[in-house]
Amino acid sequence: MKYSAIFKPLSVRSMTLKNRIVMPPMGTNFANIDGTFNEKHLAYYTQRAKGGTGLITLENVCIDFPMGSNGTTQLRIDDDQFLPGLWEFNERMHEYGACTSVQLNHAGASAHPGRLQGARHVSSATIPSKKGNPAPRPLTVPEIYEIVKKYRESACRAIRAGFDCVEIHGGHSYLISQFLSPIYNKRTDEFGGSQENRARFAKMCIEAVRQGVGPYIPIVLRISADELLEGGNTLADTLNILEHLESEVDIINVSAALNDSIQYQIDKMDLADGWRSYMARAVKEKFSDKVVITSGNIRSPHRANEILEQGDADLLAMGRGLIAEPNWVHKVKNNQEDFLRKCISCNIGCADHRIAKARPIRCTVNPDLYEEDAYQLLKLEQPVRMMVIGGGTAALEAAASAAEIGVDVTLFEKKSYLGGLAHEIARFPDKERINDFIIYLENRARALENLTIKTNHQATMVDVKSLKPDIIVNATGSVPLLPPIKGLQEQLTHPNRNVYSIFDMLKNMDQFQDFTGKQVVVIGGGAVGLDVMEYYAKRGAQEVHIVEMQSELGIDLDLVTKVSMMEIAHKHGVKIHVDTKLIEVGSDYFLVEQNNQQQKLPFDLGFVCLGMRSYAPLLEDLTEYAAANEVEVVNIGDSKRARRIIEGTKEARDLIRVVQRVSREKKLKKDFNASRSNQSKFYPSSISHNNPRGDLNLTHDSGVKATL
Ligand SMILES: Cc1cc2nc3c(=O)[nH]c(=O)nc-3n(C[C@H](O)[C@H](O)[C@H](O)COP(=O)(O)O)c2cc1C
Ligand code: SF4
Repeated sequence: MKYSAIFKPLSVRSMTLKNRIVMPPMGTNFANIDGTFNEKHLAYYTQRAKGGTGLITLENVCIDFPMGSNGTTQLRIDDDQFLPGLWEFNERMHEYGACTSVQLNHAGASAHPGRLQGARHVSSATIPSKKGNPAPRPLTVPEIYEIVKKYRESACRAIRAGFDCVEIHGGHSYLISQFLSPIYNKRTDEFGGSQENRARFAKMCIEAVRQGVGPYIPIVLRISADELLEGGNTLADTLNILEHLESEVDIINVSAALNDSIQYQIDKMDLADGWRSYMARAVKEKFSDKVVITSGNIRSPHRANEILEQGDADLLAMGRGLIAEPNWVHKVKNNQEDFLRKCISCNIGCADHRIAKARPIRCTVNPDLYEEDAYQLLKLEQPVRMMVIGGGTAALEAAASAAEIGVDVTLFEKKSYLGGLAHEIARFPDKERINDFIIYLENRARALENLTIKTNHQATMVDVKSLKPDIIVNATGSVPLLPPIKGLQEQLTHPNRNVYSIFDMLKNMDQFQDFTGKQVVVIGGGAVGLDVMEYYAKRGAQEVHIVEMQSELGIDLDLVTKVSMMEIAHKHGVKIHVDTKLIEVGSDYFLVEQNNQQQKLPFDLGFVCLGMRSYAPLLEDLTEYAAANEVEVVNIGDSKRARRIIEGTKEARDLIRVVQRVSREKKLKKDFNASRSNQSKFYPSSISHNNPRGDLNLTHDSGVKATL
């Protein structure tokens, strides 16, 4: 069997997993504000169980409300009133043969301030653990014992709710981690100082959980094995700390990093699949009787199998991979690898929504986290023909989704390849994962017989008139925004130029390989400008400057990418100019202005990344044609407004609603025409004309009743 290591069952105490894929805890903001489940929340988890996942871990659940609560909305397990909901969760997961775990957590200094009703955050000491949160107060010793008791009670409740396993969150800057890490723990009593003292609270919690769950239920401990911050626990430190913690633990879930190194915890895009499995291996080598979980950008079945086969870990946690592709296990098992919708580690819909935006999670590549493929069961009431103009990600998702419910679709792309702007951006070596989405969309689209793809074909009104579609989808994308700045156009079109737009660079990457000793200036500190900055800073440019008009870089970026970009800028000494405006472009300098002071920034290579604007050259004609011919025109993705892939994917899937409506309207029209023609067969036309409102019930000779 291909990838046999993934499909080997594993038993730990009373729990037997059918395969090695674990859904790790991931906060969703789906819960109700009172800490209970709702149907959508359950549906989201059900899809992942249905897709074949071996162990589903319920996201971090609050054991001490409100002081320990995390996220804008969070499930609770601090009282018996939450048992029915938790029980229902387990019933639904077990229905599909998945085992279940729940992550017990106290957020400490990372608690959501809005929840604390004015109370001060608590922690081991007074060091804040999360940007924006105030300094916490140190817990007293009696309070520590009180929290330990809550761990025991919650663990006991978890078993009554039907969980097969219980996980203790000991990492990621939450309360236990605030005791374990020397970055936060500045105590001088028996809970601070030495590794043994810092581990004392965690040890007490683990022992309490063992009392709560009894002897047969496995306990998982999740840790940040390497905190990847100066002054934090290293992997070697954690291996020592684990000596104090391991005795009642069955499974060690080896994660990494703290809040300030979040790009290594919710791994940034350029980190390889399973890049941090060396940490799991180190834990496994030292604690050989423990089951070890690894995680981190694991998306490829080949790599997943390899990690298991070479013994780096026993179980693989696939978090965002399962948000993006709930059917990962079944698709891999059934040789449908080409149709895996791999997470691209953009962190926009999931991590940023949850952590930075206080929104429920969403996904860039998966437009429906709750119902998944349910739309494919929809039936057309009448055939529908759709024309899609553009071949980017939004266009492909729209075309494939519509074709999957039977629409006859023709897609026109003027270039020789598909993927649009996503394809261009994926040329950056650090953005290669974006290609996974394009490959998936192409594979899906090309497998559909009723979807015709015409590349090298710029759609015109002639095509529209000859195809006679019922629905026209305009998805023509965006083009760089080039404001009327002195010298800009001239320099961009100069034959011996040193000034480039992002597309100039991406189209001719070979030309942009050797820049040692060069000075690079990037105008625009948004997502694309930062990609350019990263490219040059990491590859040895002598000096890189980045200029941004707003007060900070990456204002619209997701939290993880932003932290990562700032790390790169800091590490490579990038010169950052914020609140700085571009005034003029010369052949080897940019004239910029900050606080009414102008200065010239000289460069060998200058880049202008001033954002994108929508591009919809045919839209006006299409709208006119549509009005005259009773055709629907829908403008989606960047051609509606230049944004990110996630918006286009969602708008593309939402088109199913338009398809349904158009199909229904065609059916109504057909029925109406049929009844009208029946009527005109039976009655002289003058009678019909005399009843223009069509509201008469008439019975003709044969007794058939026709409603007009
Ligand atoms: C939206 C989101 C929420 C998360 N919430 C938690 C959490 O509640 N507890 C936890 O231990 N890890 C949490 N994580 C980290 C994941 O469990 C996982 O370790 C991380 O995403 C890396 O694995 P992946 O590349 O497979 O996604 C979260 C990650 C994401 C994206
Ligand atoms: S939003 Fe991006 S990172 Fe998150 S699951 Fe979807 S593709 Fe992955």
